[in-house]
Amino acid sequence: MTTSNALPASAPALSVRDLRKTYAGGVEALKGISLDVAPGDFFALLGPNGAGKSTLIGIISSLVNKTSGDVDIFGVDIAARRDAAMRLLGLVPQEINFNLFEKPYDILVNYAGFYGIPRAEAAQRAEAELRNARLWDKAQVMSRTLSGGMKRRLMIARAMMTRPKLLILDEPTAGVDIEIRRDMWRTLREINAAGTTIILTTHYLEEAESLCRNLAIIDHGRIVQQGPMRALLAQLDVEGFLLDIDGDVPAAMPLIDGVTITAADAHTLDVDMPRAMDLNRVFAALDTAGVRVRSMRTKSNRLEELFVRMTARDPSAA
Ligand SMILES: Nc1ncnc2c1ncn2[C@@H]1O[C@H](COP(=O)(O)OP(=O)(O)O)[C@@H](O)[C@H]1O
Ligand SMILES: [Mg+2]
Repeated sequence: MTTSNALPASAPALSVRDLRKTYAGGVEALKGISLDVAPGDFFALLGPNGAGKSTLIGIISSLVNKTSGDVDIFGVDIAARRDAAMRLLGLVPQEINFNLFEKPYDILVNYAGFYGIPRAEAAQRAEAELRNARLWDKAQVMSRTLSGGMKRRLMIARAMMTRPKLLILDEPTAGVDIEIRRDMWRTLREINAAGTTIILTTHYLEEAESLCRNLAIIDHGRIVQQGPMRALLAQLDVEGFLLDIDGDVPAAMPLIDGVTITAADAHTLDVDMPRAMDLNRVFAALDTAGVRVRSMRTKSNRLEELFVRMTARDPSAA
């Protein structure tokens, strides 16, 4: 970044306001998305296939036209000041899209040239980024001969050549084996630790859990959940039941540590308890309070259903 490109000090790394996208065929891929990503954050955009993740990333990176809404990158409106906004952004697409018959060093230097970075500066950056990506010893081999993990690290190194303040990765690890994924996670953690804000789309909860501090969950073009990773995991750790009881609900609910009991209606109790807790503790406490349980049902958990769909095997994957 040059100093002439002064950024508002307090601006979020990414601000999206009521973003909508209807494709030409009529598919409403985004139905009003709003989210903020803080500078320095490692943010996951989690969602099942077809949720709208790539559409959102496409609009943020100016590859897809929005229908309506606003996107700012570090306070720079991508519609009003597209070039300035794009200079702040690095994008790693899902598919490997460099020339396999070029050498990593040349791929990086040529990419920088495309962005107007002078040759001498590009050469310095290429060495630095190849070292960061643990690829310096492969700088002069044909890219085709790199392992899958190395190819993916090269994609990241290339995006880092423009020194983006915000790095966006669209499902960087979809369909790759766990060793390659872990290897990429390490690289991404290092980049984030060095100060680059990262946004990652994924349909692996495990990946978001391992890497990200904050997340938004997107489903059918809408954000269904947003906040710290910790809070989401805590929510998934709670199990809910509805208990039908004989007679009326007691005036004072039994108190059990970690358990929330409320009246759903005059004859039904709504119980939320930690997944690991023994249900018998709840029954014993209710029994002591003189409450007789006739039957019980599991409350359906939208979040859990969503994760089941997310982690279901992708039928389009090879
Ligand atoms: N170029 C396009 N034209 C029409 N529909 C599209 C296009 N790209 C994506 N879609 C549709 O928009 C929805 C969201 O897709 P996408 O953003 O790719 O989701 P994700 O990346 O979460 O899998 C899907 O229903 C998809 O079929
Ligand atoms: Mg996608």
